[in-house]
Amino acid sequence: MGEQSIWMQKVAADPGHSTWYVERMRGLARDGNDLAGEARLVDAMAPRGARVLDAGCGPGRVGAALAAAGHEVVGVDVDPVLIGAAEEDHPGPRWLVGDLSELDLAARGVTARFDVIVCAGNVMPFAAPSTRGAVLRRFREHLAPRGRIAVGFGIDRGYAPDEFFSDAAAAGLEVDHALGTWDLRPFGPDSDFLVAVLSDAEPGPNADRG
Ligand SMILES: C[S@@+](CC[C@H](N)C(=O)[O-])C[C@H]1O[C@@H](n2cnc3c(N)ncnc32)[C@H](O)[C@@H]1O
Repeated sequence: MGEQSIWMQKVAADPGHSTWYVERMRGLARDGNDLAGEARLVDAMAPRGARVLDAGCGPGRVGAALAAAGHEVVGVDVDPVLIGAAEEDHPGPRWLVGDLSELDLAARGVTARFDVIVCAGNVMPFAAPSTRGAVLRRFREHLAPRGRIAVGFGIDRGYAPDEFFSDAAAAGLEVDHALGTWDLRPFGPDSDFLVAVLSDAEPGPNADRG
């Protein structure tokens, strides 16, 4: 087991943190907030009925919107309380507890790889720093041929974009697009957010993976 995620360190320090987060998301939904911005971009990237992995899914906000759009969704999160809320609030997708740095879905009976992996809502900065490279490597291993990864996080969250780009390259991923928002604003010196679309830098050897 590698370094514990920063999220679970927070939960250990404050056991009410997960429930607080679930209720916060439920409140935002009840109040009619738009919680599907990331899902709309991913839907535009994906073939119809795509296989989508919601990586660090939390209580299921993004994966649920993608399932409603007709995609086959698997969500993985390290926090069992959040996965419990996803199962309760959004039945349909497969919601699994797991650490992304150790992701091995084939070992859990999920053998088909993913057309899109979406990692939204500051998941990467919440992964422990020593595990972020492993998370990106695991993402690559779970991609279908020509699959893509969409990752978004605030750049004041302790994971500098240059470090992220360097970790992505080391994991065998290349940056297709660097955006500043999920609605396609460009990434620039004044951006406070990064949305990166990544693909396998050397897809050849994996082209027959299903
Ligand atoms: C701010 S929440 C975002 C949840 C969801 N993606 C969303 O946007 O609604 C960050 C999530 O990252 C998850 N997370 C952090 N590190 C993780 C890891 N190593 N493996 C799996 N999930 C992780 C946390 O459990 C938490 O659910």
